[in-house]
Amino acid sequence: MRFLFLGDMVGRSGRTIVLERLPGLIADWKLDFVVVNGENAAGGFGVTEDILEATLEAGADVMTTGNHVWDQREALSFAERHDAFLRPANYPRGTPGRGVGLFVARNGARVLVANIMGRAFMSPDLDDPFRCAADIVESSPLREQADAVIIDFHAEATSEKQAMGHFLDGRVSVVVGTHTHVPTADVQILAHGTAYQSDAGMCGDYDSSLGMDKEEPLNRFLTKVPRGRFEAASGPATLCGLAVEISERTGLAEKVAPVRLGARLQESTPDFW
Ligand SMILES: [Fe+2]
Ligand SMILES: [Fe+2]
Repeated sequence: MRFLFLGDMVGRSGRTIVLERLPGLIADWKLDFVVVNGENAAGGFGVTEDILEATLEAGADVMTTGNHVWDQREALSFAERHDAFLRPANYPRGTPGRGVGLFVARNGARVLVANIMGRAFMSPDLDDPFRCAADIVESSPLREQADAVIIDFHAEATSEKQAMGHFLDGRVSVVVGTHTHVPTADVQILAHGTAYQSDAGMCGDYDSSLGMDKEEPLNRFLTKVPRGRFEAASGPATLCGLAVEISERTGLAEKVAPVRLGARLQESTPDFW
């Protein structure tokens, strides 16, 4: 099964490259399943229902999110209406929407996708992400209830992300990190067969600070006096993500490669498709 994950779409630049390039990638690489993290799609802060629907229309099967999920208040209501929209699964009981879903890929495979958020340097009051992940994989084991299991672990600390990778190694197809907006160079298949990358990177303008216009973040570091709002950077974007060939027999990763397409960052595409 051919799986593509795209990291945090940031603002109009990020949306533009995803909406323009994704349909062609699905056709050229014969992708069976696509997950896009959309937590920064609306001007850097959250996502609207229109953006969600346009992303699904472009071929994404699922949109995951993270700590910015509720920045656009309308998400609190549309999260209930869209099965393909996921918020972190370890939010408190009673939070709108859902953090995990079972979907059918273009090749007929049953794909379980979960969005889980880290606690280190981030949200210490969340439910334990490791317990949450264990509950999910124990209730829908790979090769029993699901042919593939994808985990978007939205976290700040690479230590927590790597620990989650090892915790789930052999029990899920992919653990991919989001939130830090910079692609890490540790793309690999872990010891027991799970594809792993600490952070997929963002789909956004890299002439920026994490996809935002660089002047105001720099000003805040220099002076601590806010002079303006954070605005999404508007230059041409790089599309960043992770490509994984998942075994239809074992549900584990057979091949994995970073994806970087577009402006600025050195291009990278899988050589196995
Ligand atoms: Fe993000
Ligand atoms: Fe985030």
